Amino acid sequence: MKVVIAGTGYVGLVTGACLAEVGTEVVCVDVDAAKITRLQNGILPIYEPGLQEIVMRNQESKRLSFTTEMSAALPGAEAVFIAVGTPPGEDGSADLQYVLQVAGQIGQLMEQYLVIVTKSTVPVGTAVRVNRAVKEALSARQRLLDYDVASNPEFLKEGAAINDFLKPDRIVVGVNTSRARQTLEQLYRPFLLNGHPILFMDIASAEMTKYAANAMLATRISYMNDIANLCGLAGADINQVRKGIGSDPRIGKHFLYPGIGYGGSCFPKDVKALLQTGREYGYQLRILDAVEAVNEDQKQLLFRKVLRHFDGNIRNKKFAVWGLSFKPNTDDMREAPSLVLIRSLLEAGATVSAYDPVAMKEAATYLGNSITFTDDMYSAAENAAAILLATEWNTFRMPDWLRLRNLMQSPVLFDGRNIYDDVQLIKLGFTYYGIGKSA
Ligand code: UGA
Repeated sequence: MKVVIAGTGYVGLVTGACLAEVGTEVVCVDVDAAKITRLQNGILPIYEPGLQEIVMRNQESKRLSFTTEMSAALPGAEAVFIAVGTPPGEDGSADLQYVLQVAGQIGQLMEQYLVIVTKSTVPVGTAVRVNRAVKEALSARQRLLDYDVASNPEFLKEGAAINDFLKPDRIVVGVNTSRARQTLEQLYRPFLLNGHPILFMDIASAEMTKYAANAMLATRISYMNDIANLCGLAGADINQVRKGIGSDPRIGKHFLYPGIGYGGSCFPKDVKALLQTGREYGYQLRILDAVEAVNEDQKQLLFRKVLRHFDGNIRNKKFAVWGLSFKPNTDDMREAPSLVLIRSLLEAGATVSAYDPVAMKEAATYLGNSITFTDDMYSAAENAAAILLATEWNTFRMPDWLRLRNLMQSPVLFDGRNIYDDVQLIKLGFTYYGIGKSA
């Protein structure tokens, strides 16, 4: 089977590489010629564990190739996946211009039956618009070709995307013909062998499933952050509360970790887009409104704790920020809470030294030379008034505390992800602040 993937961003690239890995012939198309040349030479636009090897291996075996020419890619394909960007518009809704451009282009160039699948996260009703764009392009050519549209949202976590794709919890596919269903069932068969389910549904439900899932997860995090803040005030320990509630299988223990707010390219964007869809239908999603408000507040939490500790006086003080990416195992800086923290520190007249094992190059595109990037976590902490842990990379988990105590100006730690043992740190002479603890 041959498929075409339009868009070599995070979703397109992981999808293309993993489909090729199980034996499908995949051609990835992108309008960015420089990006395609780099990919042809094995240089990836993103950092994702395991992806490089899969791309190289499948390029060598000629199952995976990259081109800028949709016309060259389409012959012989049975499905095209649209995996281009859907950046947020001014009102928070997903901007569909790239999705619809690709749909139109497919209509202009296709010569045989195709299943045209939206893979990008797109609001309910997008498949109808994709269908219209394809139909218009075909009728402009006066061609009557058969095709189907389908929706196949992805549930990949950055940093764990390869595993999520190869061993999915579920594959959601929205179709409205049996031909499209058969094509996609055949494509995904290799992933279903160990009992991983494929869920066929109508197209609008598949589109909604993606947003409802991300919004539910974002809700969990904002809920936990809210409860953590209350624990801090009321003298309870959120870590114990988390274990206490997570042991109920109806709640479950995953995704209950409080922190400095959710970030990334998905939750913030998808929550906004779902709120906007609600507004379009005259329905106010009140819980989701609160989820967003709690998250905005949570991103300021560490900074407020810093101000309180230093009695509002942090001008000319140096702070070490450990971790920059929105979460570990990625260089993605989109909507990273570290950016909000760093900008607040700088505005208050402080200086910042930061270390991240992977994301510093990417972070520099957001922060320029407003902060110092260091070669390791210890250099960042030299003469610092405090360390602020923003991202829970493994490398930060067991530092040499005595060494740090000696090289810092004052041994103060703000643990934005609750990864440290407060009792041990206090014994070592540190002042410790976590999330959802009394301090
Ligand atoms: C998220 C979803 O988890 C994926 O299922 C989905 O496919 C993806 O969005 C998408 O729409 O493409 P991702 O953004 O990569 O994946 O990251 P997550 O691991 O879900 O983390 C999101 C944010 O929540 C991070 O900022 C993380 O630090 C935060 N988080 C997560 C917490 O604060 N606490 C937790 O317990 C878990």
